[in-house]
Amino acid sequence: MNIDQLRKNTPGCNNVLHLNNAGASLVSQSTLDVQLQYLQEEAQYGGYETAFKYADKIESLYSELGKLINASPSEIATTDSATTAWERAFFSIPFKNGDEIISDTTAYASNYIAYLQAERRFGTKTIVIGVDATGDLDLNELGNSISNKTKLISITHIPTNNGIVNPAEEIGSIASRHNIYYLLDACQSAGQYPLDVQKIKCDFLTATGRKYLRGPRGTGFLFARTKSIKDFEPFNLDLHSAEWTAKDSYKPRDDARKFETWESNIAAKLGLANAISELNALDSGQVWSRIVQLANYMRDQLTLIEKIQLHDMGKTKCGIITFNADRITPYQLKESLHSEGINTSVSVKSGTLIDMKRRNLDAVLRASVHYYNTHEEIDTFVRSIKKIVAK
Ligand SMILES: Cc1ncc(COP(=O)(O)O)c(C=O)c1O
Repeated sequence: MNIDQLRKNTPGCNNVLHLNNAGASLVSQSTLDVQLQYLQEEAQYGGYETAFKYADKIESLYSELGKLINASPSEIATTDSATTAWERAFFSIPFKNGDEIISDTTAYASNYIAYLQAERRFGTKTIVIGVDATGDLDLNELGNSISNKTKLISITHIPTNNGIVNPAEEIGSIASRHNIYYLLDACQSAGQYPLDVQKIKCDFLTATGRKYLRGPRGTGFLFARTKSIKDFEPFNLDLHSAEWTAKDSYKPRDDARKFETWESNIAAKLGLANAISELNALDSGQVWSRIVQLANYMRDQLTLIEKIQLHDMGKTKCGIITFNADRITPYQLKESLHSEGINTSVSVKSGTLIDMKRRNLDAVLRASVHYYNTHEEIDTFVRSIKKIVAK
């Protein structure tokens, strides 16, 4: 990977030391240009007419996303966020009283709220699988928790507040052995960790555009395996996802666009298509190793600072580094770093309540690296941290 070139094609790299890639990463110049160009044409020639002109480019988003995760373009739906994608998949499952949903300790708040809604609406039960000594999801407990009541295994691949990578493929093997539907939240892993839905064996996978995929805000996507497309029907059907065929009938689409609705931000979709094609031009294994190398470099240096406590768990750790400092809150730390031109974020307790409560944490500072960050930037970041905590 030519990091200098990739940074040159990323205008934000000139302005900020960006360690908030798990929030939203910096888009490339060409991802920005594609959107600006489209918006100009849309304003000058009309929304429908410009979309018609760009039809092939819009279609390329589906093939690029398919290529990214080793799926067919017909198994891809695009949305405005990961949550929209996830909820459309989740609520399309016909839960009934007594069904069990198996989840993990690192579940994201929006997903867990949906489990609670399902409990109230349908009488489902949510089972949270514990972790082993290293903090990894306990696969034995997962295997032992499966019964004839299990309707869905719904797991977070990489959580928002923790460097852990949950074992998505091992979980997929268990799910497929028991013939149970498997929904994977890949919001934080898409773009940093190589994803192959044939190996993961999930029925649904969801992600957002703005994080490690380097797409625009307000974009997301859903992978729905052909079998799951047939089995489930989302509640949000409209004239795009279904055809109104007679006064008393309609026919849903038979591809994943059954989970879409008609209106969308086309400029953002084109921006995402460009970002994914740039990502597909890189080697996903190299992207992952570069991110891990930078993250471990940061962790190694932070460990040497006495007043810092690192909080990442698990055997495999990703580009998300979480920690606290003595006598300074993560909010103050974030503000101090921001005043020095360094972007980070704070993960709060209610974002991943079960995990944070289990570890007795209220909030953690989250620094998240992407491949375009450099060792020099991490040195600068660590120097700033040392200065701030020494005050
Ligand atoms: C693990 C995880 N899942 C889902 C989401 C939701 O993504 P979006 O804001 O695009 O709906 C996030 C966002 O931070 C996340 O970290």
